[in-house]
Amino acid sequence: MSDAVSARIFDGVLGAIDLLGMKRWRARTSAAVQGTVLEIGAGGGRNANWFPPGTLIIALDPDFELLKIAQKKTGWQGAGVVAIAEALPFKDAAFDCALATLVLCSVTDLHKVATELKRTLRPGGSLHAIDHVVSKAPAVRRAQCWLAAPWYRLTGSCRIERETLEVLRAEGFRVAVHDTALRSVLVRYEALAPVTTDAGF
Ligand SMILES: C[S@@+](CC[C@H](N)C(=O)[O-])C[C@H]1O[C@@H](n2cnc3c(N)ncnc32)[C@H](O)[C@@H]1O
Repeated sequence: MSDAVSARIFDGVLGAIDLLGMKRWRARTSAAVQGTVLEIGAGGGRNANWFPPGTLIIALDPDFELLKIAQKKTGWQGAGVVAIAEALPFKDAAFDCALATLVLCSVTDLHKVATELKRTLRPGGSLHAIDHVVSKAPAVRRAQCWLAAPWYRLTGSCRIERETLEVLRAEGFRVAVHDTALRSVLVRYEALAPVTTDAGF
């Protein structure tokens, strides 16, 4: 199967998840960004419809074929960049906001991504995100941990046992959860980048 066809199938699967209710969360999350915005793991551009007018969107994804699909979506604006979030090709404090929907489960090194977001967001800039994470409900959590290895092998990237919000907090982000669903497996949240108080001593 060609890369273009598998990208179309992948985007179609995300379209099915949108029909199951994800669209509502996408709308709220994307509408909250402002200024110069870095969208990491932009995929096929499924957030494009809701960006506020006047925002400049830089859409980053390692998959060139998905970015090509994104550029054809209604509402698409901005520029696509082929890169990974662990090594962002941008200068320090370049962005007012970052956006990541259903991405942080599949990055290879979440600590590196958090470090890169801190570097490229302006102090106090915000990450707006939707993720699936490990549940707070003990039985669901146990099931996720049990299924984690086979699920990772099946998908090639997705970690269902990830403690994403805890990692962001450990990196200094102030996390506010806006919505949860499916026994706290799905979360919609905002994470404020730390403001450095280093006075140069
Ligand atoms: C489940 S898709 C979500 C796509 C899109 N954000 C959405 O909500 O429809 C995950 C995306 O993350 C991208 N991705 C995977 N590893 C990444 C990395 N290390 N840095 C940036 N993006 C990555 C994939 O190529 C894919 O487009």
